[in-house]
Amino acid sequence: MTRTLVKGGLVITAAEETYADVLVEDGKVAALGATGSSVARGWTADRTIDAAGKYVVPGGVDAHTHFEFPFGGTSSSDTFETGTRAAAWGGTTTVVDFAVQTRGRALREGLDAWHAKAAGKCAIDYAFHMILSDVNEDTLKEMDLLVDEGMTSFKLFMAYPGVLYSDDGQILRAMQRAAGNGGLIMMHAENGIAIDVLVRQALEAGKTDPRYHGEVRRALLEAEATHRAIQLARVAGSPLYVVHVSAEEAVAELAAARDKGLPVFGETCPQYLFLSTDNLAEPGFEGAKYVCSTPLRPREHQAALWRGLRTDDLQVVSTDHCPFCFSGQKELGRGDFSKIPNGLPGVENRMDLLHQAVVEGRISRRRWIEIACAAPARMFGLAPHKGTIAPGADADLVVYDPRATQVLSAATHHMNVDYSAYEGKEVTGRVETVLSRGEIVIDERRFTGRTGHGRYVPRSTCQYLA
Ligand code: URP
Ligand code: ZN
Ligand code: ZN
Repeated sequence: MTRTLVKGGLVITAAEETYADVLVEDGKVAALGATGSSVARGWTADRTIDAAGKYVVPGGVDAHTHFEFPFGGTSSSDTFETGTRAAAWGGTTTVVDFAVQTRGRALREGLDAWHAKAAGKCAIDYAFHMILSDVNEDTLKEMDLLVDEGMTSFKLFMAYPGVLYSDDGQILRAMQRAAGNGGLIMMHAENGIAIDVLVRQALEAGKTDPRYHGEVRRALLEAEATHRAIQLARVAGSPLYVVHVSAEEAVAELAAARDKGLPVFGETCPQYLFLSTDNLAEPGFEGAKYVCSTPLRPREHQAALWRGLRTDDLQVVSTDHCPFCFSGQKELGRGDFSKIPNGLPGVENRMDLLHQAVVEGRISRRRWIEIACAAPARMFGLAPHKGTIAPGADADLVVYDPRATQVLSAATHHMNVDYSAYEGKEVTGRVETVLSRGEIVIDERRFTGRTGHGRYVPRSTCQYLA
């Protein structure tokens, strides 16, 4: 039995902050004891990590990543190996990635394909959501089987007609099925049919630059789709989780639904909190680096997102990490913004950017841990093993230096992508040491993990309603 002691840090969970020593045995948190107490002083260990002056926080749970994700004729540039290693560097110890159903094929086939990509490659633990791109009798039945085996959430798209899009009837049917089997429907809420009209009109008018991506994907079309998704979920009697919320008007739809007591949840992402249409309008073709959907919004929208995170109208911040290199990938859309692969890198930056929000007084330290660790773990059935520091939980721990400063840059990041969306941004706070199920994977800013350490984690159904 290996025993590790993390000693003298300020242990922060979503529920409390306390100076405590954390005893780890065989990959699990065995006990917490007040630092200096007779109990904690009696503990012996094979390894002791000095966390004095540091925070000890749960490993981050990033519930929205796309490694090796096919999109727009190319594939996102992080593999499960490089992406999970970068996640560890950034203090994230669990990712939930998206397996994709190919149209006309079984869900099982898509899930198997994603298992094959990830197995033996990951540095940290991982799970899958399933993208439903073809809702029919067979796939509805398959949903029940997948929920039973721990694949308990399904993403549907109101965007991307002809590719991943589901119509309202298909969405309603999937929601009805989820209402019966306990699955959670995750929604990409944008009116893709209307957006495609605006895309065509913009291109015909010669508006081809990346900034038009943001202009045609109107905030109102995100809000409209969010409203529609909420009403469909009400009709079906199912809970709903809206992914990558970026528009103030969409937050208002979620808030109104939650004020009615509906089981409706929302996720936003660091890019919407820290970046804006100013980035999409950067000169030359630079704006392509910031093309994602939902799109970046004018910076005035950010206040509503931060407010939503404080008031719990938004529950989760995940990254929607979907990196495409500028060179050779984003460049596919030179002369036609609609051909720029959609997605931004960020899996390594999330914990730091949200800590920066703590430093700036936007959220409390406990709220940081709630939205980045505890809430995503409960939302996606990973609790009580993930997202907190408590006896019996997996020893996924981060020793975090709240005073160190760093400059985010592609020159120093570990994501397999040739640019940083946050190039040159100075943040206060830095991951120092990371444990994944008790194994040290980052040791005082050296990678000591290994490919294949990460395990697939079957999940229970959404625990956020309990
Ligand atoms: O632009 C994005 N978000 N790319 C990834 C696919 C998605 O819709 O989440
Ligand atoms: Zn999406
Ligand atoms: Zn996504």
